[in-house]
Amino acid sequence: MKKHNFSAGPCILPDSVMKQASDAILNFDGLDLSLIEISHRSKNFVEVMDKAQQLVKDLMGLPEGYSVMFLQGGASLEFLMVPYNLMKQGGKAAYLDTGTWANKAIVEAKAFGDTTIMGSSADKNYTYIPKGYTVGSEYDYFHCTSNNTIFGTQIKSFPNVDTLNVCDMSSDIFSRQLDFSSFDLIYAGAQKNMGPAGTTLVVVKDEILGKTGRSIPTMLDYSTHIKKESMFNTPPVFPIYVSMLTLEWLKSNGGISWIEGINRQKADLLYNEIDNNPLFRGAAATEDRSDMNATFLLMEDKLKDEFDSMWKAAGINGLNGHRSVGGYRASMYNALPLESVQVLVDVMKELSRKA
Ligand SMILES: Cc1ncc(COP(=O)(O)O)c(C=O)c1O
Repeated sequence: MKKHNFSAGPCILPDSVMKQASDAILNFDGLDLSLIEISHRSKNFVEVMDKAQQLVKDLMGLPEGYSVMFLQGGASLEFLMVPYNLMKQGGKAAYLDTGTWANKAIVEAKAFGDTTIMGSSADKNYTYIPKGYTVGSEYDYFHCTSNNTIFGTQIKSFPNVDTLNVCDMSSDIFSRQLDFSSFDLIYAGAQKNMGPAGTTLVVVKDEILGKTGRSIPTMLDYSTHIKKESMFNTPPVFPIYVSMLTLEWLKSNGGISWIEGINRQKADLLYNEIDNNPLFRGAAATEDRSDMNATFLLMEDKLKDEFDSMWKAAGINGLNGHRSVGGYRASMYNALPLESVQVLVDVMKELSRKA
């Protein structure tokens, strides 16, 4: 039996995608060749790239004027590429500080110019999303992290900003319906809701590029990759192929509105247990809780060993919290079935019966 995989990333992918991906490693498209041993410029792979880009546009409902790229370097390289491509010489940027990943983005931006922190939840170990700030047109762009994978918080309502709107959606991309066209640049590492680690999705409004006055190294210039259809150099063919399969799976089942309904059910089921079981407490502020990563604490240390052995015996994987929060983190990405959450909830109930 497969494990109930609550891993924070890399993480669970749909079974059908795993099967198709395994088949393509052995024999892709009936070519008697593996996906990973053919040219990325072959007709068969160019079709994969085109399809993946189109699926992103379709699922997000993007209007004309956006480009979709599949790059390398992880979301972490985007922390650098965003200011390189968007912060003007002598300009300034606005950032929201919601935790570890936002901080890493801020560090890179500071190397380019004036970087203003519009709000920070560092005072309470990032257990909430800062609100009540305004971002004016004096900034070249505003950057936020839609979902804070480590701390288990998620922006539920995005601010209206008077400048370019940039978002790191690495850990909740394609999980809920948003007005994606209200963003000028979105990026996400593949390894949560899309595919294996190794490629980063970048969606950008074309008209915002080429306006900084900076000289940008070729590989770090979004225009390079747009012009070459993400094939300026050899692309990571396997992660892109699996991302394409996952996006096909999502679209054929009903798209983001379909998965959002299931994600809601999973999150409600788990948070309901966390709130009603006296042995547990949620780590994040209720109104900012993430539907993707639920962080929670066990109230009695003496029960830790028992709880840990119970969830492991139930076939659950990847429940330990990140070291900066402690406790537990249940990551409920798109491919995690509702049944897996029910298994976890049953273990939590069983623990309180025994305690
Ligand atoms: C929200 C967020 N941003 C950025 C990253 C970094 O991504 P990568 O490891 O692809 O560089 C992560 C990784 O977990 C993340 O969760």
